Amino acid sequence: MSDRIESRLKEDRRFPPSKSFSDRARVASHAAYESMHRQSLEEPDVFWREHTTELVWREPWTKFSEWSLPTARFFVGARLNITESCLDRHLATPHRTKAALIWEGEPGDTRTLTYFELHRHVVRMAAALTDLGVKAGDRVAIYMGMVPEAVVAMLACARLGAPHSVIFGGFSSDALRDRINDCGAKVLLTQDGSWRRGNIVPLKKMADAALEQAPTIEKVVVLKRIGHDREPVVMKEGRDVWWEDLMERPASPTSVAHARKPDAFDAEHPLFVLYTSGSTGKPKGVQHTTAGYLAGVHLSTKYVFDLRDDDVYWCTADIGWVTGHSYIVYGPLSCGATCMMYEGAPNFPDWSRFWQIIERHGVSILYTAPTAIRAFIRAGDEWPKKHDLSSLRLLGSVGEPINPEAWMWYHRVIGAERCPIVDTWWQTETGAIMLTTLPGAAFTKPGSTGLPFFGVDIAVVKDRGEPCAPNEGGKLVVRRPWPSMARTLWGDDERYRKTYWDVIPDVYFTGDGSRRDEDGYFWVVGRIDDVLNVAGHRIGTAEIESALVSHPAVAEAAAVGRPDDLKGQALCVFVTLKAGKKAGRDLKDALAAHIDREIGKFARPDVIRFTDSLPKTRSGKIMRRLLKEVASGGETKGDTTTLEDFSVLAKLRTDEE
Ligand code: WTA
Repeated sequence: MSDRIESRLKEDRRFPPSKSFSDRARVASHAAYESMHRQSLEEPDVFWREHTTELVWREPWTKFSEWSLPTARFFVGARLNITESCLDRHLATPHRTKAALIWEGEPGDTRTLTYFELHRHVVRMAAALTDLGVKAGDRVAIYMGMVPEAVVAMLACARLGAPHSVIFGGFSSDALRDRINDCGAKVLLTQDGSWRRGNIVPLKKMADAALEQAPTIEKVVVLKRIGHDREPVVMKEGRDVWWEDLMERPASPTSVAHARKPDAFDAEHPLFVLYTSGSTGKPKGVQHTTAGYLAGVHLSTKYVFDLRDDDVYWCTADIGWVTGHSYIVYGPLSCGATCMMYEGAPNFPDWSRFWQIIERHGVSILYTAPTAIRAFIRAGDEWPKKHDLSSLRLLGSVGEPINPEAWMWYHRVIGAERCPIVDTWWQTETGAIMLTTLPGAAFTKPGSTGLPFFGVDIAVVKDRGEPCAPNEGGKLVVRRPWPSMARTLWGDDERYRKTYWDVIPDVYFTGDGSRRDEDGYFWVVGRIDDVLNVAGHRIGTAEIESALVSHPAVAEAAAVGRPDDLKGQALCVFVTLKAGKKAGRDLKDALAAHIDREIGKFARPDVIRFTDSLPKTRSGKIMRRLLKEVASGGETKGDTTTLEDFSVLAKLRTDEE
């Protein structure tokens, strides 16, 4: 670390934006940010009217919002087709021939799609889907890798008003099946396979297994990414069609006409369902609607990334997660941005992959996750140093708390002390960024996610909702509905209400703990519910536990997190076995493989420990707090008086991992 930075860190961890950045920034001072933020809360109608004029509205809204918690509506009365804001509006401008997507495949092949080309693909796909029977309101599952067609798939569904549910390509067949069944998807869009670290992920084979028990799927569209020689697939007669055939074969004239001039939908028409982990075993189908979501992602992309026409913007997330939805697809395309998209892993074939892509394509904005940053630190500075990163002007971080050391490395080695860093806090449920520092307007503090974004009234409170004093830790809540918030959980309004709105009266509970410092900056510490954040992936402990107990050898299981230098949190599970089952290496391997199958490889536990019993309260509840301490190797603190059997704990401590 340079001496200059080190001394600055010691005396005051504040990094003001450089004058050259602020001079050109959309919001150039703290005063400007404050006045916009104030207006967004005090005169929301005026604020949102002014900031949504670029979007395409077929019918204007008559009222900004209407709510009776937990139900809320925004842009009341408006009608729109979200894809017209993301595609059609650019065709009448010089953006027509601008690159919308610059894609790089893992093996190194590249493709660029202009706004004109992307629009044409989306129209064709929408027409083809209409011919396959997809209508507004039908759900379409998308199980694809990071290929441009995945973006085409999402937009084609949106064009028809058919809510998409993208299922991350790392999920197993069982997880895919459960999500398809939960939302009752009618069509599945997938591909033969996708590339990951030189290996093929056999998506179609996994989809076939899932579809054996997913009766609602009528048609499957399969993209050829790998090719028959390396990944042969079996096409089921009458059900499966090749993507390429659909795109080449003329669609019916009425479907084409309808895709060219699509229907407009109500502002609250469902746009997508995206599954995420919660504190029970059943994943939650977070449901977003159209106008509020679009307004939120559009505005945040524009201001948080200070997006300009000449930027090459790269969000490294997977489209299977919300970051990919909001900040690869809907946000940047609604702004007319050029988006980089990469198919593979950051370290394949070696650790210079990201830096090579930045150099080759002149990426100017990089938005990635702390886990990736920590992995790059471990791999060594020599990789980024081999490449010219001078095109970068802004860096972003998302998904988990960024530790100040990782922040400093990002700032120094990648940003060359020149690029502001925006640490953005938000969630699948919030739809768009909620906390950050606008890059030209506010100083940053390594490790803090900064200040509320426009329209966001967020606070740290005690259990009953009383505000916390500065620097006092508490629960992070949002005090009033905001346009991009989830409207419900698919088919389960009651769970939506209970999870988010009933925990603390009249506010949305995020599930996160935080404090707010004397400057009003938020410091999010992470989840305080039974959800873990392992390498930026949200994993519910209950999901892992129910997967484990479905294995024939397992009697009981408890999953907890422990701090991990690389992944933020590591997943540790404690397992008791049924009578006659033998603990050992083989069973550990079998349980790991079982999790791969039930959920996906990314959810594989880091540590599996067999135990004769689990520490429980007298009422039979597993004492996770104690297990967490055992897993972290720390001393047991706090109250253990309700522990049923003290010897359990002593035994756990002395056991080998
Ligand atoms: C965590 C990802 C600290 C947090 C967009 C939240 C963060 C959960 C940050 C949502 C951040 C996300 N600093 N923690 N900048 N960003 N989180 O739904 O615990 O996959 O509740 O959305 O990630 O994860 P999700």
